[in-house]
Amino acid sequence: MTWPAPGICYGGDYNPEQWPRDVWDEDVRLMREAGVSIVTLGVFAWGTVEVADGVRDWSWLDDAIDLLHAHGIAVDLATPTAAPPSWLLTAHPDITPVLADGYREPPGGRNAWCPAHPVYRRYALRHVEELARRYGAHPAVRLWHVGNELGGGNVRCYCDRSAAAFRAWLADRHGSLDAVNEAWGTAQWGHRFSAWEQIDPPRGRHGAPNPSLYLDFERYSSDALLTQYLAEKEVIARHSAAPVTTNFMVGAGAHIVDYASWAPHTAVVATDHYTLVDDECREQDLALAGDRTRGMSPGRAPWLLMEHSTGAPSWQQRNRAKDPGEIARNALGHVARGADGVLFFQWRASRAGAEQFHSAMLPHGGTRTRVWREVVALGADLRRIAEVAGTRVEPARVAVVVDDAAGWALQHGLMPHRGLSYGRELRAWHRALWDRQVLCDVVPVTAALDGYDLVIVPTLLVVDDDAAARLAGVPERGGTLVVTYLSGICDADGQVIPGGFPGRFRDVLGVWTDEFYPLQPGERVALDDGSTVADWTERVVLDGAQAVVRYTSSSLAGAPAVTERPVGTGAAWYVSAALELDSLGRVVDRLLAETGVPRTVEAPAGVEAVRRVGPGGSYLFLLNHTDAEHAVTGSGAADLAGTDLLTGAAVAGRMLVPPGAARVVREHRTHP
Ligand code: GLA
Repeated sequence: MTWPAPGICYGGDYNPEQWPRDVWDEDVRLMREAGVSIVTLGVFAWGTVEVADGVRDWSWLDDAIDLLHAHGIAVDLATPTAAPPSWLLTAHPDITPVLADGYREPPGGRNAWCPAHPVYRRYALRHVEELARRYGAHPAVRLWHVGNELGGGNVRCYCDRSAAAFRAWLADRHGSLDAVNEAWGTAQWGHRFSAWEQIDPPRGRHGAPNPSLYLDFERYSSDALLTQYLAEKEVIARHSAAPVTTNFMVGAGAHIVDYASWAPHTAVVATDHYTLVDDECREQDLALAGDRTRGMSPGRAPWLLMEHSTGAPSWQQRNRAKDPGEIARNALGHVARGADGVLFFQWRASRAGAEQFHSAMLPHGGTRTRVWREVVALGADLRRIAEVAGTRVEPARVAVVVDDAAGWALQHGLMPHRGLSYGRELRAWHRALWDRQVLCDVVPVTAALDGYDLVIVPTLLVVDDDAAARLAGVPERGGTLVVTYLSGICDADGQVIPGGFPGRFRDVLGVWTDEFYPLQPGERVALDDGSTVADWTERVVLDGAQAVVRYTSSSLAGAPAVTERPVGTGAAWYVSAALELDSLGRVVDRLLAETGVPRTVEAPAGVEAVRRVGPGGSYLFLLNHTDAEHAVTGSGAADLAGTDLLTGAAVAGRMLVPPGAARVVREHRTHP
């Protein structure tokens, strides 16, 4: 697709409707000063345009788009369907969603609509049609932004309309009621259904809904929101040739919707990312989100960071400002991992409304603030590295496999251990690689795995035949497969695969688990590598594999904890325990040594290094997240050589990166 603005896009959400007209002139002047090249316009502007049913006041939006265009700023035009107007919600109060406990959301928020509601759909598409007709050919409109954080902002809807839509979805997926009964194992508790009307969403506060029903309801809910996205996209395409996307919320855990299945429907994968105050390694969470966003971008094509923050958001308990330099490090961290645009929420801090204390590119204190100075400096940095745009992150040799459905299944129902979040192992394995400057793609379970030397599969509870076969194929072709506990246990319907855990992966791993031993709070089991584990252990029986690490305490003493089965020139590893970072790091060191996967550079943990490559050059991003200066050298025999585009300094051999600093080195090396 044609990229919406030259170089690395820079900008944010722009809400001129919150300000008097004379402020807009200052806005565009300051946008130019900061190097803003694109803004997202109109995200929540349904009620300020369609002021009454069918009555539209386009004047302010006409004016804003023309003004931006006159100043050379591209528009990412949003369909404002995230927030229906008050008059519509008053006329049709049942548009808002009903929660699992029967509580209907009141108006006054946003993203509060039932995706199965025909009135909402009709009004939303009618407005999108008018919007696209009016601006579809406007030269400023370079990108369309459908709704806002579909799936992230929306809650699940359990109303009667959703129940009916769920039943239709089930008929489509399973073909017959008998097939549903079979897939869900409804013989248990005598829940057999004899008519479709007997099936409801998993409502209620307590109890234990059938896990297979729950899993299908999650899938239905993802598809229901995707249907809304696709309907809006189709309307837009009737009037505009500009590319269409929507802002995902890609993170480390199980998403609210299955974004990987949505990604092929976007012209460019776009996502929002906010760091969390209580995250003990915020930068790694950011890196993981980037690796996962790239992993779902078809062809690993450049993606767009649609939102992040210049400082404190307003939705956490204690909203933390970013440290000096952190704004640039965060933004460049996304670029390093494949973003060709970094945008913020939002351009100018709002005086009023729910988000009045949210940080912005232009804070309440105006241009004399530190944030403003750093925003202007970042804009200049992005211009200095403009030639990076269009290059790709170098091919990773390690893949970490993720699947939202596996996460939904893991986190729900009467599980052996209800305190395990899906993102936990994903974070831990990614962290060990991140600490070592080893690049990985975080890929959906549907991805081709051929190019990877090392494939890591954390807690993939649910797995279908196709994915199981592709994963088993990794060691057979000489690669190394690593599978953690609670993987391969259930089929795609959520039914346990008989014969012992880890079901689908037993044969390839050469082990089977006799019994799970989830640990109690405070309980720890020792390993023969000198570490201890909390939360999860298993009694593993070798069946072709050999033990790499053994348990040395509890009733499991002497039993294998980590195993390896050589398969030709490849290997299949099983990790049965929730390893701590030190122990996991030792396993990773051994895996890297055995597979020959190199580090991007040699540097201490906390220094991030990623390379982007293209026909025009090779660019090494270095981000020092620590508060000490660190030396970075090439990996193996390769020396660092090139020019830092941010400072202009020549780089030869060894590079000193000051605390908190970022460097982007155009390297004197050609890349295959
Ligand atoms: C989300 C939304 C934005 C804004 C930010 C604040 O990402 O998409 O509209 O509310 O959160 O952090």
